[in-house]
Amino acid sequence: MPERQTIWIIGASDGIGAALAQEWAGRGARLILSARRAERLDDLIKSLGDGHLAVPLDIEKPDTIRAAAEQIAAIGPLDRIVHLAALYDPGRISDQDPDRVAQIVSVNLTGSFHIARIAPKLLRAGGQLALCGSVAGYIGLPQGQIYSATKAGVINLTQSLRAELAGRIDVRLICPGFVDTRLTQRNDFHMPAMVTPEYAARAIIKGLNTRRFEVHFPRRLTYGLKLLAALPYWAALPLTRRLSR
Ligand SMILES: NC(=O)c1ccc[n+]([C@@H]2O[C@H](COP(=O)([O-])OP(=O)(O)OC[C@H]3O[C@@H](n4cnc5c(N)ncnc54)[C@H](OP(=O)(O)O)[C@@H]3O)[C@@H](O)[C@H]2O)c1
Repeated sequence: MPERQTIWIIGASDGIGAALAQEWAGRGARLILSARRAERLDDLIKSLGDGHLAVPLDIEKPDTIRAAAEQIAAIGPLDRIVHLAALYDPGRISDQDPDRVAQIVSVNLTGSFHIARIAPKLLRAGGQLALCGSVAGYIGLPQGQIYSATKAGVINLTQSLRAELAGRIDVRLICPGFVDTRLTQRNDFHMPAMVTPEYAARAIIKGLNTRRFEVHFPRRLTYGLKLLAALPYWAALPLTRRLSR
């Protein structure tokens, strides 16, 4: 990687993305930050110092993605793209509004597809594309609902891309456990091994600087869930059912 990396973060106006921007800026990276809320991006850019750029977009609107891609292509090839934009609504599947469900699929899964599609044109040869799954995508859990299904989809999509783009783009998967952001602040259940967005940002940067495909954290949570997902259904499903009590 070059000394001053140019990094595009999508979903940078809040939570993990904003913390990642702060952490990478502190390490000397040049950042391009995207999300819907332009004002929040501008405030963040001001707090980071000179040389960074806000490029607002709505991942649900392909014309805004195209315009952003054109603007970014004019800057020059990127070293990394980290795509974090996502929506989450807690609750049971039977209580979910179908229009909102369609929007969550559109932002979380189709949005990842849109970024994956434009990434090879924007990245330098060997540059890095990181998409964000979740431990919620490892195995279906009670109240996991559509969000978890989209994250399982992102994990699968990222695995496919890793094979498809091998030798051209360094494709990575990020799977956080519980991180204290506005996304999880709506949960009314106990969230074990919760970490701060700053912890998440440091774990992501550390993981992306290794050669491992998946960046997952905190390990005291992720290894247990990986084990659960690796069990045969006859053993795993009674355990997941117990979590709903
Ligand atoms: N927090 C956790 O415990 C946790 C656990 C596992 C995985 N994750 C994943 O980590 C990533 C970041 O989550 P977070 O907790 O930091 O969530 P967050 O605080 O809610 O931030 C989500 C970001 O996505 C952006 N976004 C949402 N809809 C968008 C759209 N249509 N177009 C463009 N940007 C959009 C939001 O900005 P605007 O509203 O300004 O558009 C915001 O910057 C997500 O992929 C999430 O699924 C989080």
